[in-house]
This record gives sequence, C-alpha cells and structure tokens, in this order.
Amino acid sequence: MPDRPDPRILSLDQLKAATMACRECPIGEIATQSVIGEGKLKPKLMLVGEQPGDQEDLQGRPFVGPAGKLLARALEAAEIPRPQTFVSNAVKHFKFELRGKRRIHKSPAVREIAACHHWLEDEIALVKPAALVALGATAARSLLGRAVPVMANRGQWLPRPDGLEVLVTLHPSALLRVDPEVREAAFEAFVADLRQAQRLFR
Ligand code: URA
Repeated sequence: MPDRPDPRILSLDQLKAATMACRECPIGEIATQSVIGEGKLKPKLMLVGEQPGDQEDLQGRPFVGPAGKLLARALEAAEIPRPQTFVSNAVKHFKFELRGKRRIHKSPAVREIAACHHWLEDEIALVKPAALVALGATAARSLLGRAVPVMANRGQWLPRPDGLEVLVTLHPSALLRVDPEVREAAFEAFVADLRQAQRLFR
C-alpha cells in the first residue's frame, strides 16, 4: 500500500517546495499554496486531517481555522498536549468552488487523495511519529489504503502494514455541522475517541 518515501525529499522545506510545484491533480492549480504539516518531529502522535481549508490555504498552515480551533479544544479536553504532536492533512492543497466571493470547501475525490498519498508518506517518513490519528474518512483512506467506515471504527486503533497504528475518529468539521442540541454530546464523543491516544503521553 504505502508509496515508498521519495529519497529526494530530505526535509519538510523540500516537501513544501515539492508540493507547491505539484500538479499531479487539478487542485494545485486553483489553491493559493500547498499546506504541509507542522509540529513536533518524532512526536508520539501525528494527526492527519482532510485538506487545508480557506484560512489554512491563505496562511499556509494546517488547522488554523474553525476546525483547527475545535481540534485544539478537543485535544486539551483529552489531555493531549498539542505542542507535542504533529498536525497535517492527507491532501496538501485546498479544493473549493467559488460561490460569489465565497470559497466553498469541496471534498477531494478518491483519485486526488491517491495522487497526494505519496506526499503524506514522505511526510510520515520525515516526521517519524510513534502513532497516527485519522481525522475523518479521507485521512483514514489515505493512511490505511482502503475505504474505512469511520462511524463503525471510531475510537479504534487499526494497524498499517508498516506497523504504525492509526486511531480512527471523525473530522472536527463534522462536529461544526451537527445540530446545536447534540453538539456538546458529539464533542464529548470526539474527545473520548482522542483519549484512546492519551496513554502515549503519560
Ligand atoms: N480541515 C482539515 O482537514 N485540515 C485543515 O488543515 C483545516 C481544516
């Protein structure tokens, strides 16, 4: 499954430059820039989301918009220190459609996730996490190389062929879309999933 790490990508700076130039799928042409991950190297946990959103595309940093704020709150509630993690995305460019002046997020297609997969593997090889978290179906597909039903597998660790374990949970954006009356319960369930990784930090 995993694309072999590219021996020419020796640093995150090189990964940024290579993804900036990437046109292996059409998203690279429309996004402002590529967004690679950031955080601690050799972390206990690397969290992988779907793709940069509007704010991330403009700032060039992952999880700085509303989903990122929710993720930060959930990590804190799960007692997982964010500075000790590395946070990234399965797809390195922002896919959107224009509605008037608004840029509306569009989910990446399976072929776009596949085209970006080797960059994610290069990143994992550089970052060397002890374990991974898949935030949502796109990340789970890319990290595990197959479609993973998120609701049936949430809160569970699934192994990759390279031995790394992947904790499956929802994407934080999903929580932003649930009805307000169930939002708190959905948040608590998300935190409970993330707590499965808390023992790594003890
Ligand atoms: N959603 C993601 O999946 N990643 C980001 O970086 C921001 C929002």
